[in-house]
Amino acid sequence: MAFRPLHKAINHVPTLLENAQNQLKDFPKAAQQTLNGIAQRMPSHLLHSASVVAPRIFSKPLSRITNANVWPYITGSRLKPAFRLFLDMADDMSMLNIYRIDRLIGEKELNGRLDIKEKDLTLLASIPDPHLVYSAFDINRYASPENVEMITQLFTYGKRITRYRGMTVTWDQSVDSDVWTFNIDTANLLRHIFEDGVGGRTDIRRFVELGVGGGSMIGTFAKTLPNATDLRGTDISPYALMCTRRNVEPYLRASQSLSLFLGKGLMPFANHADMIVSNPPYIPHMKKPDATDPYRGTGLIKEIVESGTNCLNPDNPNASIYVCMSSLSLKDFHSYLHHTPHVRAHMLGEEIEVPLKIFSVNENDPWLSWLISVHGLVDSRERLASTGFRYWHKLSAWKITPR
Ligand SMILES: C[S@@+](CC[C@H](N)C(=O)[O-])C[C@H]1O[C@@H](n2cnc3c(N)ncnc32)[C@H](O)[C@@H]1O
Repeated sequence: MAFRPLHKAINHVPTLLENAQNQLKDFPKAAQQTLNGIAQRMPSHLLHSASVVAPRIFSKPLSRITNANVWPYITGSRLKPAFRLFLDMADDMSMLNIYRIDRLIGEKELNGRLDIKEKDLTLLASIPDPHLVYSAFDINRYASPENVEMITQLFTYGKRITRYRGMTVTWDQSVDSDVWTFNIDTANLLRHIFEDGVGGRTDIRRFVELGVGGGSMIGTFAKTLPNATDLRGTDISPYALMCTRRNVEPYLRASQSLSLFLGKGLMPFANHADMIVSNPPYIPHMKKPDATDPYRGTGLIKEIVESGTNCLNPDNPNASIYVCMSSLSLKDFHSYLHHTPHVRAHMLGEEIEVPLKIFSVNENDPWLSWLISVHGLVDSRERLASTGFRYWHKLSAWKITPR
């Protein structure tokens, strides 16, 4: 299994080096890690031929390089031991247990299949009906004073292992720069999709996720869907793709392949999907549409509504798209739906109310005021006193199908 990407990589040495080179300017650390990953996994005679090919490729003007933003053979990042924080969320999200890991998890296990057992753990706090994965307020409320200090320290290290619906993912702030790992919106979308009966579906062969982040969702579906052999994910962050490869690859069955692509929005690789999932950026932006970037704010949601169903497998009547939405994006979402009569959308289950805790928004007063007046962000000083959080919105899960 571990060698399948290598076989692909060997055939695509020029493409790999070309793409890594293209990313060096914007993502130097990720590009370097990819090149190191390729070098480590490549037999020496191929490494030699790669180094012969490299100067030729690197001397090409960038304008002549095609396919520049597609990076399908990205390697997984690697973690070093020292993980002590373990979070375990109940399937119905009624409880979040926070544990200290009492044994050293070695490098091989950390970068492979993780099997965390109860005997290796000390329970530090149980948080009922969590509103966030990390809430200092809830930790103070439900943990003993000694444990509050320990939990706070463990979160400060920026390394955590999270388990939800049987899928365990790792996240290390110092390796997984800018990666959106398992969060309350991830759990909420997964919960609604499974409550919609997806777990037992045998018709899903090609599964596509737009914006994989740390790989929690694509990993959960890889483990759960019995016939999902062709798993495809995309993100605009190479660190996210590397984190996803690290987290998901160890769990793939022999019949499964995982292809990861660096790029924005729907791409041709999404075609003929039996299921598309996305937890897209859902905070509307004040400057919309941004002249240079159509994906600012709710741009990805717009693209999914307008073109997503064209990517579904026409031979599968159950092919569908699942997306996460915030109450803040509903106005835009409904307007996109209104202009797209060929699709229908319905909300799954109930919304959940959660605090808005996104640094770039919470620190930006004009943006906050605009979200309050135009998009219904709730500003509550009473809640600040009773919960520690002043700004609230609602998360929901939606299913989109062709009409
Ligand atoms: C809210 S996070 C969700 C991450 C992960 N799916 C989860 O639920 O935990 C959104 C992800 O979409 C990626 N993203 C943002 N805009 C995108 C775009 N236009 N095309 C593809 N991915 C995008 C971000 O880098 C980020 O990883």
